[in-house]
Amino acid sequence: MSTIFVRSVLGQSRRSVFAAPARLASTSAKQSTLKERLADLIPAEIENVKATRAAHGKKSFGPVIVDQLYGGMRGLPALIWDGSVLDADEGIRFRGKTIPECQELLPKAPGGSEPLPEALFWLLVTGEVPTQEQVATLSKEWAARSAIPEFVEEILDRCPPTLHPMSQFSLAVTALNHDSAFAKAYAAGISKKEYWGPVFEDCMDLIAKLPNIAGRIYRNVYGGGKLPAIDAEKDYSWNLATLLGFGDNKEFVELMRLYVTIHSDHEGGNVSAHTGKLVASALSDPFLAFGASLNGLAGPLHGLANQEVLVWLRKMQSKLGENASDEAVKEYVWSTLKAGQVVPGYGHAVLRKTDPRYMAQREFALKHLPDDPMFKLVAQVFKIVPDILLAAGKAKNPWPNVDAHSGVLLAHYGLTEMQFYTVLFGVSRAFGVSAQLIWDRALGAPIERPKSYSTAAIQKMFANKQ
Ligand SMILES: CC(C)(COP(=O)(O)OP(=O)(O)OC[C@H]1O[C@@H](n2cnc3c(N)ncnc32)[C@H](O)[C@@H]1OP(=O)(O)O)[C@@H](O)C(=O)NCCC(=O)NCCS
Repeated sequence: MSTIFVRSVLGQSRRSVFAAPARLASTSAKQSTLKERLADLIPAEIENVKATRAAHGKKSFGPVIVDQLYGGMRGLPALIWDGSVLDADEGIRFRGKTIPECQELLPKAPGGSEPLPEALFWLLVTGEVPTQEQVATLSKEWAARSAIPEFVEEILDRCPPTLHPMSQFSLAVTALNHDSAFAKAYAAGISKKEYWGPVFEDCMDLIAKLPNIAGRIYRNVYGGGKLPAIDAEKDYSWNLATLLGFGDNKEFVELMRLYVTIHSDHEGGNVSAHTGKLVASALSDPFLAFGASLNGLAGPLHGLANQEVLVWLRKMQSKLGENASDEAVKEYVWSTLKAGQVVPGYGHAVLRKTDPRYMAQREFALKHLPDDPMFKLVAQVFKIVPDILLAAGKAKNPWPNVDAHSGVLLAHYGLTEMQFYTVLFGVSRAFGVSAQLIWDRALGAPIERPKSYSTAAIQKMFANKQ
């Protein structure tokens, strides 16, 4: 992450608390809880934002062109989020750390080699690498908050199994707003300066309750018997895997740790992250805001692509059989494009190289399931699709994204129900959206209200200009 020095009004150099090197940052306040550590960091960051705005607030950093208004605001600088930054060539960094750096630096489960999502959340919220002990405390705290209200269980139990798991997920998360600490505090007249406290509590509850919601949806729709209880001695991913019925498979549990970590956040502008931020800017509580995020994630150009990839691969496999030739795969890819459809799992609005989240999953597959026939097909498609997308000449990025790989890993371990895949993406995305909502309220982010224009106004504006 680039270091930000700002000349404060007092003439002193001020440095973002998040620009501190991890070595220094992680030595401080080892024994604090996450909330205590956050409370320490907020005042300095409020001053840092004030100083940044005082020094640079009126400066422009790039023109807005009319195509951006019609083109989905692509590349328009419009949001602030310090938790993660996406570079077109390099991919995502979480508080300045690449995925391989997170895999190396963040605490792991005993005997495990993938980072614990608890640690990633701590990093997103504080900019610091937590200790093993802090991570264990967070696992316990989430386990203690994990129960969902009976009426939410009933809502899920009454959903027809034909209702898409993402719709069920969104219903349940929205209904959690019944017990929102923030909504209650707001109704009781809380001061603006205190917003972040109850929002933090809601976000902790939200993340903690997701394994019970996801597990219940999975078992209601696909069978698998009664939901086991959360084990307070185990980590979040172990509990998530267990509630889905895969907890006795150590490799699957490791996959969940990697999966949740890499799907957690992808800077602030993607549909799910931005939707959450936008809705929460109206001071809707985190459950309402994240429910909206999930509805965006459920679109096939965003999170649902992980379902679509496996549907597409299976169709290809049933048409071409196993061990299809490169020529046959090429023809199949072209037939998808000629039918006016997208190749799911390829392309990206920001990335211009292979997604490091794809590579992390590929490394996992090479380590644990190198001979899986579907992994071999994914690897074959990886060799073939980019050249075809380049030849077709439309996609700005011909390379695979995160969704091109995740389904194959889940299917390998027996989680074959493709319609459920985006729910796991949703569980993960709660980590990034929550971190962002906490900081937005701590920094007093205002209600969002960009300006829209009519086509007639654009034409008039440029009527007499070249
Ligand atoms: C991710 C995605 C929505 C980004 O969209 P974008 O920013 O508009 O992408 P581009 O600017 O490269 O799009 C330019 C054109 O190439 C097409 N294109 C982009 N990716 C494509 C793909 N994988 N297959 C076929 N066509 C693709 C777009 O549909 C668009 O066509 P149009 O001009 O007819 O509308 C797009 O790449 C896509 O649909 N990918 C497949 C779905 C997917 O994997 N989504 C998960 C993303 S993490």
